[in-house]
Amino acid sequence: MQDEDRVFELINVSKSYGSTVVLKNVNLKVNQGDFISIRGKSGVGKTSLFRIMGLLELPTDGSLRLFGKDAAEMEEDEKASLRLRQLGLVFQFFNLLPSLTVAENVELPMALAGVKKLERRERVFELLRYFDLEGLAERFPESLSGGERQRVAVMRALVNRPRVLLADEPTSSLDDENSALLLGLLERVCREEKVAVVMTTTDLYENFPVCDDYFLKNGQLLRLNYK
Ligand SMILES: Nc1ncnc2c1ncn2[C@@H]1O[C@H](COP(=O)(O)OP(=O)(O)OP(=O)(O)O)[C@@H](O)[C@H]1O
Ligand SMILES: [Mg+2]
Repeated sequence: MQDEDRVFELINVSKSYGSTVVLKNVNLKVNQGDFISIRGKSGVGKTSLFRIMGLLELPTDGSLRLFGKDAAEMEEDEKASLRLRQLGLVFQFFNLLPSLTVAENVELPMALAGVKKLERRERVFELLRYFDLEGLAERFPESLSGGERQRVAVMRALVNRPRVLLADEPTSSLDDENSALLLGLLERVCREEKVAVVMTTTDLYENFPVCDDYFLKNGQLLRLNYK
């Protein structure tokens, strides 16, 4: 694997909140085009790891490198710019803006990145078609089902064509059919656009054939399968 394909490198990452140790010496390498699942029960530290990888928090110990650069050496505006353009985040509880329509929610990161209106609209409708949600463009988040909200949150994370997508429990509020649909879409983005996808899940047993599976327990991250 060439170094330029390396997205994340976590080296002995530990995280504590006061005296509560959540992550202990976590090591993980993620390359362009990888699809990684991090499985673990509620409360084991999945969101903590997601927030560290999403540059929203620093580890208590150890280091996180993103595109070869140590997160501890990045300024806040550099992190914000990476989150806007290179690192798409899908939060566990969606974080859609209630006063904006679906199309406006998806478009927002492009507007923040200074992309012109026409190009924004084209990209938003391209994604709506890709995710089969064209009919929802003018609806507001509160009128959407959980599965639809989940797909809107994924579209918003992808709109600026990031190199990495981090998704915290993207299937937790979905039934089996919608879970399979969303995973299929993530897999397609990973395969067709070489986006590195890292998702967390509390589903310990479901077989995701395309994923490299990791398991988080007692603060430690263990690799489950080798391809
Ligand atoms: N800001 C914080 N301050 C104190 N404790 C925290 C904080 N954030 C998380 N924790 C604790 O760290 C542990 C891991 O939390 P985290 O949210 O990472 O778990 P999780 O695996 O995402 O759980 P879930 O599947 O329920 O979302 C929990 O015991 C939680 O209470
Ligand atoms: Mg969580």
